[in-house]
Amino acid sequence: MTSLPPPARAFASDNAAGAHPAVLEAVTRANDGHVLAYGDDPHTRECEGRFRDLFGAPVETLLTFNGTGANVLALASMLGPAEAVVCTDWAHIAVDETGAPERVLGSKLIDLTTTDGKLRPDQLRELEHLRGVQHHAQPGVVSITQSTELGGLYTVDEIAELCDVAHSMEMTVHLDGARIANATAALGGGVETLRAFTIDAGVDVVSFGGTKNGLLGGEAVVYLDPTLARSARYLRKQVTQLPSKMRFIAAQFNALLDRDLWIRSAEHANAMARLLHQLTLDVPGIEYDAPPAVNSVFPCLPPDAIEPLRAWCFFWDWDVSRHQVRWMTAWDTTDDDVRTFAEGVRHILAGCN
Ligand SMILES: Cc1ncc(COP(=O)(O)O)c(C=O)c1O
Repeated sequence: MTSLPPPARAFASDNAAGAHPAVLEAVTRANDGHVLAYGDDPHTRECEGRFRDLFGAPVETLLTFNGTGANVLALASMLGPAEAVVCTDWAHIAVDETGAPERVLGSKLIDLTTTDGKLRPDQLRELEHLRGVQHHAQPGVVSITQSTELGGLYTVDEIAELCDVAHSMEMTVHLDGARIANATAALGGGVETLRAFTIDAGVDVVSFGGTKNGLLGGEAVVYLDPTLARSARYLRKQVTQLPSKMRFIAAQFNALLDRDLWIRSAEHANAMARLLHQLTLDVPGIEYDAPPAVNSVFPCLPPDAIEPLRAWCFFWDWDVSRHQVRWMTAWDTTDDDVRTFAEGVRHILAGCN
Protein backbone atom coordinates (compact mmCIF):
# COMPACT_ATOMS: atom_id res chain seq x y z
CA MET A 1 0.00 0.00 0.00
CA THR A 2 1.02 3.63 -0.28
CA SER A 3 0.17 6.64 1.87
CA LEU A 4 -0.05 8.72 -1.31
CA PRO A 5 -3.63 9.94 -1.91
CA PRO A 6 -5.03 8.39 -5.11
CA PRO A 7 -5.55 10.58 -8.16
CA ALA A 8 -8.79 12.55 -8.33
CA ARG A 9 -9.81 10.62 -11.45
CA ALA A 10 -9.14 6.90 -11.79
CA PHE A 11 -8.12 4.98 -14.91
CA ALA A 12 -11.05 2.57 -15.15
CA SER A 13 -12.69 3.82 -18.34
CA ASP A 14 -13.54 6.84 -20.43
CA ASN A 15 -17.13 5.87 -19.56
CA ALA A 16 -16.28 6.62 -15.92
CA ALA A 17 -15.61 10.28 -16.73
CA GLY A 18 -18.19 13.00 -16.29
CA ALA A 19 -19.61 15.25 -18.99
CA HIS A 20 -17.68 18.16 -20.48
CA PRO A 21 -18.74 21.58 -19.08
CA ALA A 22 -19.45 22.84 -22.62
CA VAL A 23 -21.84 19.93 -23.07
CA LEU A 24 -23.58 20.64 -19.77
CA GLU A 25 -23.92 24.31 -20.71
CA ALA A 26 -25.40 23.35 -24.06
CA VAL A 27 -27.95 21.10 -22.36
CA THR A 28 -28.90 23.92 -20.00
CA ARG A 29 -29.31 26.32 -22.93
CA ALA A 30 -31.43 23.77 -24.80
CA ASN A 31 -33.64 23.42 -21.75
CA ASP A 32 -35.29 26.74 -22.43
CA GLY A 33 -38.94 26.56 -23.44
CA HIS A 34 -40.84 23.95 -25.43
CA VAL A 35 -39.83 22.45 -28.76
CA LEU A 36 -41.44 19.61 -30.66
CA ALA A 37 -40.38 16.09 -29.73
CA TYR A 38 -38.75 13.24 -31.66
CA GLY A 39 -36.25 15.38 -33.56
CA ASP A 40 -38.50 18.02 -35.06
CA ASP A 41 -36.57 20.79 -33.34
CA PRO A 42 -33.85 23.35 -34.19
CA HIS A 43 -31.13 21.59 -32.16
CA THR A 44 -31.56 18.36 -34.08
CA ARG A 45 -31.63 20.19 -37.42
CA GLU A 46 -28.42 22.00 -36.45
CA CYS A 47 -26.86 18.69 -35.46
CA GLU A 48 -27.77 17.07 -38.78
CA GLY A 49 -26.19 20.05 -40.55
CA ARG A 50 -23.05 19.77 -38.44
CA PHE A 51 -22.61 16.13 -39.44
CA ARG A 52 -23.10 17.05 -43.10
CA ASP A 53 -20.37 19.68 -42.72
CA LEU A 54 -18.13 17.28 -40.86
CA PHE A 55 -18.22 14.68 -43.60
CA GLY A 56 -18.51 17.21 -46.42
CA ALA A 57 -21.40 15.25 -47.91
CA PRO A 58 -25.20 14.89 -47.71
CA VAL A 59 -25.01 12.28 -44.95
CA GLU A 60 -28.10 11.30 -42.95
CA THR A 61 -27.69 11.32 -39.17
CA LEU A 62 -29.92 9.61 -36.62
CA LEU A 63 -29.29 10.20 -32.93
CA THR A 64 -29.60 7.37 -30.43
CA PHE A 65 -29.30 6.86 -26.68
CA ASN A 66 -26.30 4.55 -26.55
CA GLY A 67 -23.64 2.70 -28.47
CA THR A 68 -25.21 -0.73 -28.46
CA GLY A 69 -28.41 0.81 -29.81
CA ALA A 70 -26.49 2.76 -32.45
CA ASN A 71 -24.79 -0.43 -33.63
CA VAL A 72 -28.04 -2.38 -33.69
CA LEU A 73 -29.80 0.40 -35.62
CA ALA A 74 -26.94 0.72 -38.09
CA LEU A 75 -26.86 -3.01 -38.75
CA ALA A 76 -30.67 -3.24 -38.93
CA SER A 77 -30.62 -0.64 -41.71
CA MET A 78 -27.88 -2.42 -43.62
CA LEU A 79 -28.85 -6.08 -43.44
CA GLY A 80 -31.01 -7.78 -46.04
CA PRO A 81 -33.01 -10.96 -45.50
CA ALA A 82 -30.88 -14.01 -44.59
CA GLU A 83 -27.75 -11.88 -44.35
CA ALA A 84 -25.05 -12.09 -41.69
CA VAL A 85 -22.66 -9.58 -40.13
CA VAL A 86 -18.95 -10.27 -40.46
CA CYS A 87 -16.83 -8.93 -37.59
CA THR A 88 -13.91 -9.92 -35.38
CA ASP A 89 -14.08 -12.13 -32.33
CA TRP A 90 -13.16 -9.03 -30.28
CA ALA A 91 -15.95 -6.88 -31.71
CA HIS A 92 -18.13 -5.10 -29.17
CA ILE A 93 -21.16 -6.28 -31.14
CA ALA A 94 -19.98 -9.88 -30.71
CA VAL A 95 -18.75 -9.95 -27.12
CA ASP A 96 -20.05 -6.94 -25.19
CA GLU A 97 -23.63 -6.42 -26.28
CA THR A 98 -25.19 -9.43 -24.57
CA GLY A 99 -26.22 -10.82 -27.92
CA ALA A 100 -28.37 -7.74 -28.66
CA PRO A 101 -27.58 -7.76 -32.40
CA GLU A 102 -28.48 -11.45 -32.71
CA ARG A 103 -31.62 -11.08 -30.61
CA VAL A 104 -32.93 -7.86 -32.12
CA LEU A 105 -31.84 -8.41 -35.71
CA GLY A 106 -32.35 -12.17 -35.80
CA SER A 107 -29.15 -12.36 -37.81
CA LYS A 108 -26.00 -14.40 -37.55
CA LEU A 109 -22.71 -12.79 -36.57
CA ILE A 110 -19.71 -14.38 -38.28
CA ASP A 111 -17.00 -13.41 -35.79
CA LEU A 112 -13.62 -14.15 -37.32
CA THR A 113 -10.56 -14.93 -35.21
CA THR A 114 -8.00 -12.16 -34.85
CA THR A 115 -5.16 -11.61 -32.41
CA ASP A 116 -5.34 -7.82 -32.55
CA GLY A 117 -9.02 -7.06 -33.14
CA LYS A 118 -8.41 -6.07 -36.77
CA LEU A 119 -10.09 -7.75 -39.70
CA ARG A 120 -7.91 -8.58 -42.72
CA PRO A 121 -9.06 -8.43 -46.38
CA ASP A 122 -8.08 -12.08 -46.90
CA GLN A 123 -10.47 -13.08 -44.14
CA LEU A 124 -13.26 -11.53 -46.16
CA ARG A 125 -12.09 -13.17 -49.37
CA GLU A 126 -12.19 -16.54 -47.59
CA LEU A 127 -15.96 -16.09 -47.14
CA GLU A 128 -16.49 -16.25 -50.88
CA HIS A 129 -17.48 -19.92 -50.60
CA LEU A 130 -20.56 -18.93 -48.56
CA ARG A 131 -21.94 -16.67 -51.22
CA GLY A 132 -24.79 -18.03 -53.28
CA VAL A 133 -25.14 -21.23 -51.25
CA GLN A 134 -28.64 -21.64 -49.87
CA HIS A 135 -27.45 -23.43 -46.72
CA HIS A 136 -25.39 -20.47 -45.49
CA ALA A 137 -26.33 -17.08 -44.10
CA GLN A 138 -25.10 -14.63 -46.74
CA PRO A 139 -22.30 -12.27 -45.66
CA GLY A 140 -24.08 -8.93 -45.98
CA VAL A 141 -22.34 -6.41 -43.73
CA VAL A 142 -18.75 -6.07 -42.54
CA SER A 143 -18.44 -4.35 -39.18
CA ILE A 144 -15.08 -3.00 -38.05
CA THR A 145 -14.21 -0.96 -34.97
CA GLN A 146 -12.04 2.17 -35.06
CA SER A 147 -10.25 2.52 -32.71
CA THR A 148 -10.39 -1.19 -31.98
CA GLU A 149 -11.49 -2.89 -28.80
CA LEU A 150 -7.80 -3.58 -28.12
CA GLY A 151 -6.79 0.06 -28.39
CA GLY A 152 -5.40 -0.33 -31.92
CA LEU A 153 -5.95 1.52 -35.16
CA TYR A 154 -6.64 0.64 -38.76
CA THR A 155 -4.71 2.79 -41.20
CA VAL A 156 -6.60 4.63 -43.93
CA ASP A 157 -5.28 2.17 -46.51
CA GLU A 158 -6.32 -0.83 -44.45
CA ILE A 159 -9.90 0.42 -44.20
CA ALA A 160 -9.98 1.34 -47.89
CA GLU A 161 -8.84 -2.16 -48.87
CA LEU A 162 -11.40 -3.80 -46.57
CA CYS A 163 -14.11 -1.63 -48.12
CA ASP A 164 -12.99 -2.48 -51.65
CA VAL A 165 -13.05 -6.20 -50.94
CA ALA A 166 -16.38 -5.98 -49.07
CA HIS A 167 -18.02 -4.02 -51.86
CA SER A 168 -16.64 -6.36 -54.51
CA MET A 169 -18.42 -9.15 -52.59
CA GLU A 170 -21.65 -7.11 -52.45
CA MET A 171 -21.28 -6.34 -48.75
CA THR A 172 -21.61 -2.95 -47.09
CA VAL A 173 -19.28 -1.66 -44.36
CA HIS A 174 -20.22 -0.47 -40.89
CA LEU A 175 -17.69 1.24 -38.64
CA ASP A 176 -18.27 1.11 -34.88
CA GLY A 177 -16.80 4.46 -33.90
CA ALA A 178 -17.49 4.48 -30.19
CA ARG A 179 -13.96 5.97 -30.03
CA ILE A 180 -13.84 7.48 -33.50
CA ALA A 181 -12.60 10.76 -32.02
CA ASN A 182 -9.58 9.09 -30.43
CA ALA A 183 -8.83 7.41 -33.75
CA THR A 184 -9.17 10.69 -35.64
CA ALA A 185 -6.84 12.45 -33.22
CA ALA A 186 -4.30 9.64 -33.38
CA LEU A 187 -4.26 9.47 -37.18
CA GLY A 188 -3.64 13.15 -37.71
CA GLY A 189 -6.31 15.12 -35.96
CA GLY A 190 -8.23 16.99 -38.63
CA VAL A 191 -11.54 16.65 -40.33
CA GLU A 192 -9.62 15.49 -43.41
CA THR A 193 -8.30 12.58 -41.36
CA LEU A 194 -11.83 11.58 -40.34
CA ARG A 195 -13.03 11.73 -43.93
CA ALA A 196 -10.02 9.79 -45.17
CA PHE A 197 -10.69 6.69 -43.07
CA THR A 198 -14.48 6.82 -43.37
CA ILE A 199 -16.31 8.36 -46.32
CA ASP A 200 -13.30 8.53 -48.66
CA ALA A 201 -12.24 4.98 -47.77
CA GLY A 202 -15.70 3.67 -48.66
CA VAL A 203 -17.31 3.10 -45.24
CA ASP A 204 -21.10 3.12 -45.61
CA VAL A 205 -22.42 3.70 -42.08
CA VAL A 206 -20.71 4.93 -38.90
CA SER A 207 -21.75 4.63 -35.27
CA PHE A 208 -20.28 7.94 -34.14
CA GLY A 209 -19.45 7.92 -30.44
CA GLY A 210 -20.16 10.77 -28.07
CA THR A 211 -20.58 9.28 -24.62
CA LYS A 212 -16.94 8.28 -24.15
CA ASN A 213 -15.82 11.70 -25.28
CA GLY A 214 -17.63 13.98 -22.85
CA LEU A 215 -21.36 13.63 -23.49
CA LEU A 216 -23.84 12.84 -20.74
CA GLY A 217 -25.03 10.19 -23.16
CA GLY A 218 -25.77 9.93 -26.84
CA GLU A 219 -24.44 8.44 -30.06
CA ALA A 220 -25.11 9.17 -33.71
CA VAL A 221 -25.64 6.76 -36.57
CA VAL A 222 -24.26 8.53 -39.62
CA TYR A 223 -25.30 7.15 -43.00
CA LEU A 224 -22.42 8.12 -45.27
CA ASP A 225 -24.37 6.31 -47.95
CA PRO A 226 -27.76 8.00 -47.40
CA THR A 227 -29.61 5.40 -49.47
CA LEU A 228 -29.09 3.01 -46.55
CA ALA A 229 -31.10 5.37 -44.33
CA ARG A 230 -34.30 4.69 -46.27
CA SER A 231 -36.03 2.80 -43.47
CA ALA A 232 -33.81 3.98 -40.66
CA ARG A 233 -36.33 6.24 -38.92
CA TYR A 234 -38.82 3.40 -38.54
CA LEU A 235 -36.12 0.96 -37.50
CA ARG A 236 -34.81 3.38 -34.85
CA LYS A 237 -38.22 3.39 -33.18
CA GLN A 238 -38.50 -0.38 -33.50
CA VAL A 239 -35.15 -0.94 -31.79
CA THR A 240 -36.27 1.46 -29.00
CA GLN A 241 -33.66 4.12 -29.81
CA LEU A 242 -35.91 7.07 -30.70
CA PRO A 243 -35.40 9.72 -28.00
CA SER A 244 -38.52 11.86 -27.52
CA LYS A 245 -36.53 14.76 -26.07
CA MET A 246 -34.06 14.54 -28.92
CA ARG A 247 -33.03 18.17 -28.47
CA PHE A 248 -30.87 17.23 -25.49
CA ILE A 249 -28.82 14.65 -27.39
CA ALA A 250 -28.55 17.01 -30.35
CA ALA A 251 -27.45 19.91 -28.15
CA GLN A 252 -24.71 17.76 -26.65
CA PHE A 253 -23.38 16.81 -30.07
CA ASN A 254 -23.61 20.43 -31.22
CA ALA A 255 -21.32 21.41 -28.35
CA LEU A 256 -18.96 18.50 -29.00
CA LEU A 257 -18.67 19.24 -32.72
CA ASP A 258 -18.29 22.97 -32.18
CA ARG A 259 -14.77 24.24 -32.85
CA ASP A 260 -13.35 20.70 -32.90
CA LEU A 261 -13.99 20.06 -29.21
CA TRP A 262 -14.45 16.38 -30.07
CA ILE A 263 -10.94 16.15 -31.54
CA ARG A 264 -9.30 18.32 -28.89
CA SER A 265 -10.85 16.26 -26.08
CA ALA A 266 -9.82 12.99 -27.67
CA GLU A 267 -6.29 14.18 -28.41
CA HIS A 268 -5.97 15.19 -24.77
CA ALA A 269 -7.09 11.71 -23.63
CA ASN A 270 -4.62 10.13 -26.06
CA ALA A 271 -1.82 12.38 -24.80
CA MET A 272 -2.56 11.38 -21.21
CA ALA A 273 -2.24 7.71 -22.17
CA ARG A 274 1.10 8.42 -23.83
CA LEU A 275 2.28 10.20 -20.68
CA LEU A 276 1.15 7.33 -18.47
CA HIS A 277 3.01 4.88 -20.67
CA GLN A 278 6.12 7.03 -20.62
CA LEU A 279 6.07 7.48 -16.81
CA THR A 280 5.56 3.79 -16.07
CA LEU A 281 7.66 2.21 -18.81
CA ASP A 282 10.73 1.81 -16.60
CA VAL A 283 8.91 0.74 -13.42
CA PRO A 284 10.48 -2.58 -12.41
CA GLY A 285 7.96 -5.38 -12.96
CA ILE A 286 5.87 -3.66 -15.65
CA GLU A 287 5.86 -4.99 -19.17
CA TYR A 288 4.19 -3.42 -22.16
CA ASP A 289 3.62 -5.05 -25.57
CA ALA A 290 3.39 -1.69 -27.33
CA PRO A 291 2.98 2.02 -26.67
CA PRO A 292 -0.61 3.30 -26.70
CA ALA A 293 -2.18 4.19 -30.03
CA VAL A 294 -5.16 5.94 -28.46
CA ASN A 295 -6.40 6.42 -24.89
CA SER A 296 -5.66 3.09 -23.21
CA VAL A 297 -2.53 1.29 -22.06
CA PHE A 298 -2.31 -2.43 -21.38
CA PRO A 299 0.53 -3.23 -18.94
CA CYS A 300 1.30 -6.70 -17.61
CA LEU A 301 1.89 -6.39 -13.86
CA PRO A 302 3.45 -8.60 -11.20
CA PRO A 303 0.46 -10.68 -9.98
CA ASP A 304 0.88 -9.67 -6.31
CA ALA A 305 0.73 -5.98 -7.18
CA ILE A 306 -2.63 -5.99 -8.95
CA GLU A 307 -5.02 -6.10 -6.00
CA PRO A 308 -3.18 -3.55 -3.78
CA LEU A 309 -2.89 -1.21 -6.73
CA ARG A 310 -6.56 -1.65 -7.62
CA ALA A 311 -7.60 -1.10 -3.99
CA TRP A 312 -5.72 2.23 -4.10
CA CYS A 313 -7.05 3.33 -7.49
CA PHE A 314 -9.55 1.22 -9.44
CA PHE A 315 -8.97 -0.26 -12.93
CA TRP A 316 -10.14 -3.34 -14.86
CA ASP A 317 -8.38 -6.58 -15.67
CA TRP A 318 -7.73 -7.30 -19.32
CA ASP A 319 -6.04 -10.65 -20.03
CA VAL A 320 -6.02 -12.39 -16.66
CA SER A 321 -3.85 -15.26 -17.96
CA ARG A 322 -1.03 -12.74 -18.54
CA HIS A 323 -1.78 -10.50 -15.51
CA GLN A 324 -2.55 -7.82 -18.03
CA VAL A 325 -4.73 -4.87 -17.00
CA ARG A 326 -6.18 -1.86 -18.78
CA TRP A 327 -5.61 1.71 -17.73
CA MET A 328 -7.77 4.12 -19.65
CA THR A 329 -7.64 7.89 -19.82
CA ALA A 330 -10.48 10.28 -20.63
CA TRP A 331 -11.11 13.83 -21.84
CA ASP A 332 -10.84 15.05 -18.22
CA THR A 333 -7.75 13.13 -17.08
CA THR A 334 -5.19 15.65 -15.86
CA ASP A 335 -1.43 15.65 -16.00
CA ASP A 336 -1.51 15.56 -12.20
CA ASP A 337 -3.78 12.47 -12.19
CA VAL A 338 -1.29 10.67 -14.41
CA ARG A 339 1.77 11.70 -12.38
CA THR A 340 0.08 10.73 -9.08
CA PHE A 341 -1.03 7.41 -10.49
CA ALA A 342 2.39 6.65 -11.96
CA GLU A 343 4.03 7.44 -8.62
CA GLY A 344 1.58 5.16 -6.79
CA VAL A 345 2.28 2.40 -9.30
CA ARG A 346 6.00 2.80 -8.64
CA HIS A 347 5.53 2.67 -4.82
CA ILE A 348 3.16 -0.27 -4.79
CA LEU A 349 5.18 -2.34 -7.24
CA ALA A 350 8.36 -1.61 -5.26
CA GLY A 351 6.61 -3.02 -2.17
CA CYS A 352 5.68 -6.17 -4.07
CA ASN A 353 9.09 -6.91 -5.58
C1 LIG B 1 -16.22 -0.52 -29.31
C2 LIG B 1 -17.47 -0.13 -28.59
N1 LIG B 1 -18.62 -0.04 -29.26
C3 LIG B 1 -19.74 0.38 -28.68
C4 LIG B 1 -19.75 0.72 -27.34
C5 LIG B 1 -21.02 1.30 -26.79
O1 LIG B 1 -21.57 0.69 -25.75
P1 LIG B 1 -22.78 1.23 -24.87
O2 LIG B 1 -23.99 0.50 -25.31
O3 LIG B 1 -22.37 0.88 -23.49
O4 LIG B 1 -22.94 2.72 -25.05
C6 LIG B 1 -18.59 0.58 -26.57
C7 LIG B 1 -18.60 0.86 -25.13
O5 LIG B 1 -17.86 0.33 -24.35
C8 LIG B 1 -17.41 0.17 -27.21
O6 LIG B 1 -16.26 0.06 -26.54
